[in-house]
Amino acid sequence: MTEKSKILVIGGTGYIGKYLVEASAKAGHPTYALVRESAASDAEKSKLIESFKSFGVSIVHGDIYDHQSLVTAIKQVDVVISAVGAVQLADQVKIIAAIKEAGNIKRFLPSEFGTDVDRTNAVEPAATFFSTKAKIRRAIEAERIPFTYVVSNGFAGYTLPSLGQMGAKSPPRDKITIIGDGNPKVILVKEEDIATYTIKALDDPRTLNKILYLRPPANVLSFSEIVSLWEKKIGTILEKTYLLEDELLKKIQESPFPSNILLSIAHATFVKGEYTNYEIDASIGAEASELYPEVKYTTVDEYLSFFT
Ligand SMILES: NC(=O)c1ccc[n+]([C@@H]2O[C@H](COP(=O)([O-])OP(=O)(O)OC[C@H]3O[C@@H](n4cnc5c(N)ncnc54)[C@H](OP(=O)(O)O)[C@@H]3O)[C@@H](O)[C@H]2O)c1
Repeated sequence: MTEKSKILVIGGTGYIGKYLVEASAKAGHPTYALVRESAASDAEKSKLIESFKSFGVSIVHGDIYDHQSLVTAIKQVDVVISAVGAVQLADQVKIIAAIKEAGNIKRFLPSEFGTDVDRTNAVEPAATFFSTKAKIRRAIEAERIPFTYVVSNGFAGYTLPSLGQMGAKSPPRDKITIIGDGNPKVILVKEEDIATYTIKALDDPRTLNKILYLRPPANVLSFSEIVSLWEKKIGTILEKTYLLEDELLKKIQESPFPSNILLSIAHATFVKGEYTNYEIDASIGAEASELYPEVKYTTVDEYLSFFT
């Protein structure tokens, strides 16, 4: 059996990062999490770090703005996954510089975990957000660093627990506001499944210098279809109102950061259908559930059952 790659996750204490750290360790990869010193003074992060240690993760202290700490961490591993958040996306050039200097990395997965930024049209500020990720792709390619870009599409946990209703903790049982007309197909994937597919891909020659697209077939649904699944579960037809495009565009312009980013991403996703308006080009990417049919992913239907 070939030895499993050693993995470093940068941003492992973040929302998606923690799933990646856990999936990597559980899959038997020697796993390292680059953690900022400041995390120790945050009770919740300390707890998370202790749980990482309990499943054998090595904690390395560092910061993307401390070049030497990055190089030292990177030299210990084979693969680097970045899961830094929106604010640090552009500064991933610092990770690229450290990978270049270390000279040992077999694969880099930058912080993507969303839409295919080379194939997505969006209004501002989402347009700038996506183009920042695209620029990082170009920087990786220019430096000839081996890569995989993970196009996970939507995080299920961002939309399904509230069915897209701001501030709600569970899906509505009487009325719902739908962004757009509810017809474009969207793709929502459970965070644990995003992590499982990502970890499977990083040692896979079929995803080297390619895009890993997550389009599990049962999770490619229009928002109206998702609402219908929920209505069947609760045996009630919800009263619907629609937040149509013009009104949404106005709301984006009037909203402060970061709500304006979230709303403009919602516009691209739920109004324009940007997750699904292109075919996967086999010369540049592959679909995860086809590559790894053994993964029993959570369907949207199963996910919603949790709330009944
Ligand atoms: N598809 C979707 O629905 C969806 C939804 C949300 C996010 N995303 C994408 O997922 C990716 C990760 O976003 P997220 O929301 O999971 O991120 P996040 O929760 O904001 O976490 C960011 C991580 O980066 C770390 N970090 C921040 N500054 C750092 C520094 N100077 N040095 C080292 N580490 C640093 C943070 O560490 P601390 O814990 O110390 O702060 C944290 O671990 C992004 O590309 C984002 O666009 C996609």
